[in-house]
Amino acid sequence: MEIIITEDKKAASCLAAKIVSKQIEEKPDSVLGLATGSTQLPLYKELIKLHKEGMVDFRKITTFNLDEYVGLSSEHPSSYHSYMWKNFFSFINIKKHKIHIPNGLAPDISDHCKQYEGNIRASGGIDLQILGLGSDGHIGFNEPSSSLSSRTRIKTLTEKTIKDNAPLFKNKNEIPRHVITMGVGTIMDSKKCLMLVFGEKKAEAVKQMIEGPISSSIPASILQMHNNTIVIIDKDASSLLGRRDYYKWVYRNKPDWQKI
Ligand code: GLP
Repeated sequence: MEIIITEDKKAASCLAAKIVSKQIEEKPDSVLGLATGSTQLPLYKELIKLHKEGMVDFRKITTFNLDEYVGLSSEHPSSYHSYMWKNFFSFINIKKHKIHIPNGLAPDISDHCKQYEGNIRASGGIDLQILGLGSDGHIGFNEPSSSLSSRTRIKTLTEKTIKDNAPLFKNKNEIPRHVITMGVGTIMDSKKCLMLVFGEKKAEAVKQMIEGPISSSIPASILQMHNNTIVIIDKDASSLLGRRDYYKWVYRNKPDWQKI
């Protein structure tokens, strides 16, 4: 795991956008795994800006979103479909048929999940997976106790996650209890992972993910076993890390050829 601590979320998001655009420059037909949540908003904004400046071309990329709420149509304003179009896809030159987001209204959810896995495989696998972190240590919507080798499937949200995500819903009674999410194993198959985490509220989860034992109680801790993961966090999210100074020292002393 490479841990990069930045001054604030703006710096973190600019760095993350550089990593994403470098990936696309090196492999124009990259397969990207995309995440939602408030954390990713400045990253998408920065990528849109780079695209407008002619610095990144999304024409050939394929995308797979991590998750979606069960029971929400793609037009529902709080669905992750709506989030992606409102905050990213509408502003870039991505081809619509190359976008994949789980269907929250799939009539046969198990079959839909199998197909989603099959589509990822058929695309050649995810080159770069963008991730956020839940305050209870989840990735995608893989809540604590998720199998660390799980695949795309239906999950039940914890009350904490429902509360955390409530600001994205106008009507609190409408928040679904169930979601479709890529599994932990699906995420671990990605060639590279890029996680962003901001704010003091996530500091405990960050500490456990990076310095705690690998455990399904903190599903993100499995990333300790992933051989190409970058975690970019702001100062506040890093506040409980025991080896914070060491991570900063490593980043400052990166060999030139390794610099982003
Ligand atoms: C949701 C998403 C995750 C995201 C997490 C953090 O649970 N399914 O992919 O990482 O929220 O959200 P936020 O960035 O809003 O804190």
